[in-house]
Amino acid sequence: MSRLDAMILRLRAQRTSIEFAVREIADAPGVIIEFGLGKGRSYDHLREHFPRRDIFVFDRFIDAYPDCVPPPGRLLLGEFQDTAALALTRFRGAAILVHADIGNGDRQSSHDLAARLCPLWTVMMRAEAVLLSDQPIAGENLSALELPSPARGVYFAYRRTSRAEAGAPSRTIAAAPLTAANR
Ligand SMILES: C[S@@+](CC[C@H](N)C(=O)[O-])C[C@H]1O[C@@H](n2cnc3c(N)ncnc32)[C@H](O)[C@@H]1O
Repeated sequence: MSRLDAMILRLRAQRTSIEFAVREIADAPGVIIEFGLGKGRSYDHLREHFPRRDIFVFDRFIDAYPDCVPPPGRLLLGEFQDTAALALTRFRGAAILVHADIGNGDRQSSHDLAARLCPLWTVMMRAEAVLLSDQPIAGENLSALELPSPARGVYFAYRRTSRAEAGAPSRTIAAAPLTAANR
């Protein structure tokens, strides 16, 4: 698959996944946290679909369209591993949706990064919160959700298990196979 085809596939999947999350989280309280501002395209789509939610975004730098830069206090700059760890107390159990769009073009290192960050994401999530990711994830206290076409198998969705379940012996889901679009 060419890089162009992979990108088209990924972006269509991303849009479908965000719109899927609109229905999944409905009126449940909580903030939205995005990892990967990039050009700000998905941030723009999130704020269009969740106009009343607070949206916080992590990235190492600002490379977004000027009208897609989150307002002061909503953008956390630095390496994900550092900023997410520092923000853990602030965001513990606060997010109803985490959108992780972290692919860097190298399939394996993007996948490894998602595996390292996943424990931090789950701590930030409320019970029943949704995690959307461009990377397949094997995480504790997450159960896989089936995305509609054309997102299925390209983008990935998980639900944080409830607090009661989270206290029970953890359930680990298997990582889905990597495809050409997940890089
Ligand atoms: C695929 S792009 C995000 C695209 C964005 N969601 C959009 O719609 O325009 C991934 C972003 O993650 C950021 N990123 C990747 N690894 C990172 C890390 N370890 N720490 C901080 N930012 C990172 C990159 O700087 C890049 O902006």
